[in-house]
Amino acid sequence: MVSVELDASDRLESMRLLIDAELESLIEDEVANGSGQVAELCGSVLLAGGKRLRPLLILLAHEIAGGTDVDEIMPLALASEMIHTATLVHDDINDEASHRRGIETIHSRAGLPKAVIAGDWLFTKGFGLGGCYDENIVRILAQYCADLAVSEFEQLDHVLDLTTSPEDYLSIVRGKTAGPFGAGCYAAGLVAGLNDEQALSLKQFGMELGIAFQLVDDLLDLRGDERMGKPRGADVIEGKMTLPLIHALTLSHGNERRRLAHIIENFTDDSFDELMSLLNHSDSLHYAEILVRNHLERAITALDVFAESNAKSLMLYVTEYVMKRHV
Ligand code: IPE
Ligand code: IPE
Ligand code: MG
Ligand code: MG
Ligand code: MG
Repeated sequence: MVSVELDASDRLESMRLLIDAELESLIEDEVANGSGQVAELCGSVLLAGGKRLRPLLILLAHEIAGGTDVDEIMPLALASEMIHTATLVHDDINDEASHRRGIETIHSRAGLPKAVIAGDWLFTKGFGLGGCYDENIVRILAQYCADLAVSEFEQLDHVLDLTTSPEDYLSIVRGKTAGPFGAGCYAAGLVAGLNDEQALSLKQFGMELGIAFQLVDDLLDLRGDERMGKPRGADVIEGKMTLPLIHALTLSHGNERRRLAHIIENFTDDSFDELMSLLNHSDSLHYAEILVRNHLERAITALDVFAESNAKSLMLYVTEYVMKRHV
């Protein structure tokens, strides 16, 4: 069992290195071809060491679907990582984040105007890579990018909205995080030649995995693991209504509910312990963990239609990683 796991992690690591090398050479070419400081700034965050989960899943979905030519799918994998990094550059501006992937954010180093443009550059280059595919694939990319924007708007409109429901939360997460995972896997299946129904199973897998991934991201923010490279409770400071908060607000009443609302509305690190104790009182972190497991189980079930293969076991390994991750 241990050797199977080691094998899977080695194989994923070599795929990750391949993606890194492709991204590196793409940035080198851009710098050499005159994109100068924009490409350098974008390259610094692009190459600073993300987990590469989206491109990895795209390569794996393509392989599960019977694709054998990695060159056929690599532009889509790179597109997903560049578009993702573009959203991070813009997300960090909005969230006033000082660090990303262990380095200073672009807006902290180069100022807001250049960071906005850098995000646009990453987005444009990423979308351009996706443009080499058939129209239906380009449409899928365009739709997930548009949905992401809609959800980021929704999230802004729910800042410190204590009436936010679990359905509101889920709708935001589907658009901002799960959609890109789902669309990537779906498009990869289509590129490999699956029919729409089969490719939709991959979409379902990506959506469910993406929901679990964001739930874990939100839990990690509350748990304050220093490996995240940012202060604990950053989401609460932002006024972001994550599921544990929504759950606790729904379950508590009277003085406890009033205290919880006050802490959320006036959050500083000094009230962190009290917030955690209120969340624990309503078992809200545990509730979110149960949902993580449910969504991961649904993700795994969505892969039932595919025969056992190397790629499928790697995909299942990634699913497990999402539950256990600390960064
Ligand atoms: C961060 O994504 C944004 C979320 C959707 C939570 P990742 O956690 O995949 O970030 P990187 O790419 O590894 O840096
Ligand atoms: C991810 O959400 C945002 C995007 C999908 C752009 P977060 O705001 O939770 O991402 P982190 O936590 O800053 O990485
Ligand atoms: Mg953020
Ligand atoms: Mg954000
Ligand atoms: Mg987060």
